[in-house]
Amino acid sequence: MSVRRLAPDAVQPASFAFDAANENWADQQIAKYPEGRQASAVIPLLWKAQEQHDGWLPRAAIEAVARKLGMAPMRVMEVATFYTMFNLQPVGEHFVQLCGTTPCALRGAEALKKVCLDVIGPQSTVSADGKLSWLEVECLGACCNAPMAQINFDYYEDLTPENFKALLEDLRHGRPVKTGSQIGRSGSEPVGGGETLKDPALYDGSVIGAGDWQKRVTEQRKAAAEAAAAKAAAEAEAKKAEASKTDATPAAATKPATETAAPGRPKPSEPGQPTSAANDTPAAGGKVDAKSAAESAKSAGAPADKPVK
Ligand code: FES
Repeated sequence: MSVRRLAPDAVQPASFAFDAANENWADQQIAKYPEGRQASAVIPLLWKAQEQHDGWLPRAAIEAVARKLGMAPMRVMEVATFYTMFNLQPVGEHFVQLCGTTPCALRGAEALKKVCLDVIGPQSTVSADGKLSWLEVECLGACCNAPMAQINFDYYEDLTPENFKALLEDLRHGRPVKTGSQIGRSGSEPVGGGETLKDPALYDGSVIGAGDWQKRVTEQRKAAAEAAAAKAAAEAEAKKAEASKTDATPAAATKPATETAAPGRPKPSEPGQPTSAANDTPAAGGKVDAKSAAESAKSAGAPADKPVK
């Protein structure tokens, strides 16, 4: 990006005024905006002033636009110096804006810069005959046909050092030139032509309606429905087989070992449960075998065959 300054005083005109047609056009632009918002027309008016003044904006034109819109000249100057669409230096009859951004650079823009230097001269200067000037700019949005350049209001794409040099010479000598792709692309299709929709049958109108297309579509739909039903049936069958395999497995083999023990029996160490080994026997449940009862009675002095009271 170059530094944007006004042109030297030596090339600045003493004054600028819109011609009658452009004055009328400017009034129409201003009338589009509500009262008090005339400053909104600053860009179209600067653009028209540049167009009238051989493609560049002198200080006098910027000041004339400011007067027309009732704006401070500095505010219009800010707009003119910010947007690169406004040329602040004189340009040639054919103003070349050469794209130097990455896609164009990868496709040979550097070589095109050398052509500009050879054929036109340094950047931002007008050739001795006044016919050509050039400037490197950022992406112009035609990357798919890179490298490219905008010359005045036209795009020239798929440039090579050879065809670009010939193009500049043709412009210089007023010969007719071809805009757009220089290698015959009609759009942004691949180099060498399009690669899709090439089947000639697609463009053969005689095949439209040929055959019983309704029958064909019906058969296709029926086949699709049958295939879907067969798939669903196969999946259901597989699930059924899996389920019966699981049922046939022995429970003991599948259950964890801990689950085979009596689940409801409390552990002796659990809170609130008897902790003695004697109470942890089946006898603790209330039944005392005869031998134990006899021994207890004997030790208490009671007859062995009488119940203990
Ligand atoms: S990079 Fe050159 S046109 Fe986009």
